Amino acid sequence: MKRGGNNAQKRRAGEAAADAVADGQVVGLGTGSTAAHAIRALGRAVDAGRDVEGIPTSYQSRELARKVGLPTTTLEEASPDLAIDGADQVVGSDLIKGGGAAHAREKLVDAAADRLLVVADETKLAEALSVPVPVEVLPDAREPVADGVRERGGEPTLRAAERKDGPVVTDNGNLVLDCEFGEIDDPAGLAADISALPGVLEHGLFVDMADAIYVGTDEGATVRES
Ligand code: A5P
Repeated sequence: MKRGGNNAQKRRAGEAAADAVADGQVVGLGTGSTAAHAIRALGRAVDAGRDVEGIPTSYQSRELARKVGLPTTTLEEASPDLAIDGADQVVGSDLIKGGGAAHAREKLVDAAADRLLVVADETKLAEALSVPVPVEVLPDAREPVADGVRERGGEPTLRAAERKDGPVVTDNGNLVLDCEFGEIDDPAGLAADISALPGVLEHGLFVDMADAIYVGTDEGATVRES
């Protein structure tokens, strides 16, 4: 998928986070253009002799890991020491994710990891969460969940596919509603309300989940522990 933002900054963030992975560790592999830089860097590290395994969060991250020679495993076989994942917006340790519709498996893997390292370019940093919240729904739940989102003050839009007629279908066979709430004052409350709607598989609010934010800059990368 095509993404905005600053690709050089994304690369610096991804590579800096990959540098933090120690020999013998298992790493959750996020999805998207920034996490992809980390996956490529981990592939190079494996090539140079480092012993690392990845747990992919999507078809995209699994394919990329395979392509760069990074061995993969699953949550059934291993528990991630850390995860490296991108974000669509970052406020402190709160995130909005799901621009690539991978947020359900990302949340599963990111939450299972001992530490979540978020990788982002400077365009992702904000004062308040305000981009639309992606909500993955069972196909039959599309209308009831849309009604529930409206009752909570949101405006849902079914995500349309690009280069295919019809909606985006996730790696899990579901649909995505992008839900505009404006500035979100209470991310934890909204997260709980959306999770409570029957038919919601997962939403893109990652509340208090980030342990460190690696931000790519024009000069290098900064790391903020949160
Ligand atoms: C995937 O569904 C998302 O959560 C991505 O991690 C997020 O959209 C960030 O993507 P980029 O790194 O491509 O901006």
